[in-house]
Amino acid sequence: MPGDKSISHRSVMFGALAKGDTEISNFLRGADCLSTISCFRSMGVDIEEKGENILVRGKGLHGLRRPDHVLDCGNSGTTTRLISGILAAQDFDVTLTGDESIQKRPMKRIIDPLSLMGAEIESVRGNGCAPLHITGAPLHGISYSTPVASAQVKSAILLAGLYADGETRVTEPAPSRNHTELMLSSFGADVRTEGTTVTIRQAEELYGQKIQVPGDISSAAFFIAAGLLIPGSEILLKNVGVNPTRDGVLRVFRRMGGSIETTALSSGAGEPAADLLVKASRLHGVEIGGEEIPSLIDEIPVIAAAACFADGVTVIRDAAELKVKESNRIAAMTENLRAMGADVTETEDGMIIRGGRPLHGAVIDSRNDHRIAMTFAVAALAAEGETSIPQWDCVNISYPGFLEDLRKL
Ligand code: S3P
Repeated sequence: MPGDKSISHRSVMFGALAKGDTEISNFLRGADCLSTISCFRSMGVDIEEKGENILVRGKGLHGLRRPDHVLDCGNSGTTTRLISGILAAQDFDVTLTGDESIQKRPMKRIIDPLSLMGAEIESVRGNGCAPLHITGAPLHGISYSTPVASAQVKSAILLAGLYADGETRVTEPAPSRNHTELMLSSFGADVRTEGTTVTIRQAEELYGQKIQVPGDISSAAFFIAAGLLIPGSEILLKNVGVNPTRDGVLRVFRRMGGSIETTALSSGAGEPAADLLVKASRLHGVEIGGEEIPSLIDEIPVIAAAACFADGVTVIRDAAELKVKESNRIAAMTENLRAMGADVTETEDGMIIRGGRPLHGAVIDSRNDHRIAMTFAVAALAAEGETSIPQWDCVNISYPGFLEDLRKL
């Protein structure tokens, strides 16, 4: 599987802030991660191709320089939010922005805690979204409870915490993905986790690492769903990251009756990976909600599509965050699944899907959202007739080789 997007971003960012080189293998060359590379290059960091690998020549915690233009984060929420935590503590000012979708996504969720730490961040249009103008300032540690379980928010605060006086503490309503904590710790930062609270101490130095990025479970999810739905399928997916803060999709598909066997397990720098053997299965509806939502937030679209082919009702709740992703994914899923003939009701914080009706082909409005486009490629395989997905290129955000891999199957 192609490299994990979340881990690829972080490996470049933390490598840039470290002393010495960081060599990254299985780096995801998707548009989002390339946005991160280009932002750090603009701040003076040498990032080179070394064969298949990426080599980041770290500048140290205080080695970034003021970019001579606006930083473009493209479509990437991870780039925008995590970089903001870093920029808040530099000795220069910078403006960052991104595409149409990024300029609509909520940034108040990072502006609020970073401002409490002493940061000077302004939403240029005063609407709580990018463009953001950030003037670096001395920061101090805080104890902060986030209203939403978001690894991007948690990570922005922890990255600012690397620079802040004393200790910085973040408590979440439910555990979100913990790649930042695991990786910062391997780079030498003092990070501790107790329950849903993470504490970081001001750092003197980070140290370059060798990083092997596991395959992206969020990308694997499309093939897992396709393998479960298409009669006769048997697919072995190699090297899929199965960090317990990310593997909710496996738990849910198994609960639905899906046959997903773990055939080999390995681990590097605290990030477990596995080979997964998926076999076509008869699925039934389930309830999905509560604390498991952050562990499968990006996989809900493909789970919802699979639920249309399952016997009985699937209820997805506590997932209002889907409305502020690359698109409003609750609306995008409901509208497009209905166009294919599914029985789906949109709710305030999720969807109710009455499965078992055959779906038919349709023209899909992907809303230029990579996960919506790939989800409907899977739905199309299991539906009768032909489906067309305009604006298909958005899949390059997280999985440039998706169509090629799908064709091979
Ligand atoms: C990500 C965290 C999630 C996820 C996104 C990547 C990350 O967002 O949806 O695709 O790399 O930290 P939130 O943290 O905002 O839920």
